[in-house]
Amino acid sequence: MDAFEIRGGQPLRGETRVYGAKNAALPILAATVMTEETCVIEDVPDLEDVKVMMDILRTLGAKVERVEDAVIVHPKDIRSANVPPDLMRRMRSSIFLMGPLLARFGEVRVSKPGGCVIGQRPIDYHLRGMRALGASIEEKHGFVRCTSHRLFGNEIILDFPSVGATENLIMAATLADGETVIENAAREPEILDLANFLNKCGANIEGAGDDTVRIQGVHHLHGATHRIIPDRIVAGTILLAAAATRGKVTLTGAEPAHLTALLSKLREGGVRVSTDHDIITVECLKPWRAVDVRTSPYPGFPTDLQAPFMAALTTAVGTSVIRESVFEARFKHVNELTRMGADVSVDLQTAVVRGVAQLSGASVEATDLRGGAALVIAGLMADGTTRVEGLQHIDRGYQQLDVYLRDLGAAIVRVSS
Ligand code: EPZ
Repeated sequence: MDAFEIRGGQPLRGETRVYGAKNAALPILAATVMTEETCVIEDVPDLEDVKVMMDILRTLGAKVERVEDAVIVHPKDIRSANVPPDLMRRMRSSIFLMGPLLARFGEVRVSKPGGCVIGQRPIDYHLRGMRALGASIEEKHGFVRCTSHRLFGNEIILDFPSVGATENLIMAATLADGETVIENAAREPEILDLANFLNKCGANIEGAGDDTVRIQGVHHLHGATHRIIPDRIVAGTILLAAAATRGKVTLTGAEPAHLTALLSKLREGGVRVSTDHDIITVECLKPWRAVDVRTSPYPGFPTDLQAPFMAALTTAVGTSVIRESVFEARFKHVNELTRMGADVSVDLQTAVVRGVAQLSGASVEATDLRGGAALVIAGLMADGTTRVEGLQHIDRGYQQLDVYLRDLGAAIVRVSS
């Protein structure tokens, strides 16, 4: 497997452009199965998870092609509603096909997505919502089969503002009979992006991006062209890498409004932050001040930036307290950070980070996507050389991360081990 070799100590400097958001592209690509007409999705990042979603659509019968930064889907010949188990296991986000396939075919069969290192990640909110729309659900032998002659609008109140459940239920409700109201809906920008795409296809969705979403069912969706919003988590990761290495980086093609919680915490830590339309610049000239943070659903501090933020805090002056309130096991990167000299102690959902003068390079292993990004940031900060294994996790969510960082002055190369 490949690894990153990083020689730490180089401040990141320069300018780079943010590409399209993985977590918007995945549900939107899944949503294309709801029409028989061609859809052109632009600024789709070239990531492993996107490749898996494209393979799933092909397995279902669609013709899918990439033309530069766009993915063109011809869904006319989709006949199957069975998501292949091996592809399902490769990517949890295959669950996003449940709503669209149920809406189009009145049935869908998926293997129950496994949990992952960040938590059990059940799908009970998804299934309860599908039942509320009239689907019958059969769960056995590790598979979930949803069937319905017709979906009917209903009122759904989510126990927790789940991103995936909100997206799946919006898609299922789009072709249901009557009105569906989803309350306590997730408010992430990727949900509004999905609704904007579906409305371009002829759907009638209001309130997406807020905590109450109203969907008037329609009978037909046509094709559309849509440009994906910028990836706020990739943007936040690069900003944190720049600030953690005491550099100065400007991001273009960004959306500052999607990163208000992070930018506020960067300022609290003493980092200089400036924004102008789609541009964000950070500059850090001195050690960070310790900062407490609690992750929460959008617009709170994003759980996907908790690990990268922790890496940057390992050499802050003082003690920081990080509370992870979205996933129950999202501190797997801590052991690897302590191998690099970080002083972090974890008690259930709380990590206490005592700032140290300097990290030291070591061989470490990524076990999940954002934890892997945290190890890369730590390597950029550390004295000496760091080897990050487990790139299969990082490649799921970061497009050529080494190339992007090298363009900003990082001493990082991808090597085959
Ligand atoms: C989405 O995952 C993102 N993935 C995650 O990003 C992100 O961390 C997460 O939202 C939270 O923002 C994609 O969009 C592809 P949830 P999702 O449903 O939808 C529990 C990354 O790094 N829950 O909002 O799976 C769940 O266990 C990935 O890009 C249930 O209990 O997240 C978790 O504790 C990682 N039952 C909490 O809710 C359910 O039916 C939030 O999960 C569904 C979720």
